[in-house]
Amino acid sequence: MARPSRPLGMDHMEINHIDANDIHDAGGASTLRIAVAGGTGTLGRHVVDELRARGHNVRVLSRSSAEYPVDLSTGEGLEAALAGCDVVVDAANSVSPRTMRATLVDGTKHLVAAERAAGVAHHVCVSIVGCDRVPMPYYKVKVAQENAVMAGPVPWTIVRATQFHELIAGVFTATVRARVLLASRNVIMQPMAAVEAARAVADAAEADPRHGRIEAAGPERTDLHTLAATWRATTARRAALVPAPIPGRMGRALRAGHLASTHPDARGVVGFAEWLGERSPGGHVA
Ligand SMILES: NC(=O)c1ccc[n+]([C@@H]2O[C@H](COP(=O)([O-])OP(=O)(O)OC[C@H]3O[C@@H](n4cnc5c(N)ncnc54)[C@H](OP(=O)(O)O)[C@@H]3O)[C@@H](O)[C@H]2O)c1
Repeated sequence: MARPSRPLGMDHMEINHIDANDIHDAGGASTLRIAVAGGTGTLGRHVVDELRARGHNVRVLSRSSAEYPVDLSTGEGLEAALAGCDVVVDAANSVSPRTMRATLVDGTKHLVAAERAAGVAHHVCVSIVGCDRVPMPYYKVKVAQENAVMAGPVPWTIVRATQFHELIAGVFTATVRARVLLASRNVIMQPMAAVEAARAVADAAEADPRHGRIEAAGPERTDLHTLAATWRATTARRAALVPAPIPGRMGRALRAGHLASTHPDARGVVGFAEWLGERSPGGHVA
């Protein structure tokens, strides 16, 4: 696609220009300068790789980034990091109750304000399928983040993804130490590989702002029990599968399949078993 069209109400700003050091831009107008906030994370690193493979000029922004250190919760470093950028992908994250709001909601406000000042034409926010329907504190923060994006001054697209295989494997790895795996048949899920979610995010970053949401999901609608049994069989770890019923509104939301996507805009092809197998040709995940 061409560079994103100019944001509404930003006619007074100049279109970002290509500088002489930007070797990718020398060849064609479709090359974008894209900042990926959280570009060192589980999803963000794949977004960075995917966008670079497509020929874009990509900046990695995070607190630990050597080139573009930023702290979204304070806005520190954003002015320099966003100078000259066409598009910003926000793949930053925090799941800590202490910092999640500062990172995701205040962080979005700092980010879009800095984007506006820099003349960024498109903000791509990564969010979660069903975050507005599953009553978890973290998901409430994600909804507030989406609201900050929608109320912000920069044209936007929200890409909602389902849980990553990486997250599910990480939860099982953490709990297997106690020889148990949470394995409710009533928790409906449709997980996907982060690398496949990253392709959907990269597609969104290349396209014009939607002012709307896109959903990306895995290939299989399944349940936590099946995922736990698959993980146990593949890793050959010893653990009991514990149904662990989830009560109340949360249980109803999970049983209703609100974490899954019936008609996703982008559907991955790599299921959990295949993903686990790919990580270990012998079928055993470390
Ligand atoms: N994990 C899932 O299953 C899943 C599923 C669907 C959607 N999502 C969404 O995908 C996005 C990325 O999630 P993830 O799991 O890939 O996250 P992650 O692996 O935890 O990575 C978080 C990234 O954010 C950066 N970061 C954290 N705090 C920051 C701050 N104050 N300022 C700047 N950067 C900061 C981290 O780098 P530093 O520590 O160096 O700052 C890191 O690069 C989130 O929006 C999440 O809601 C995740």
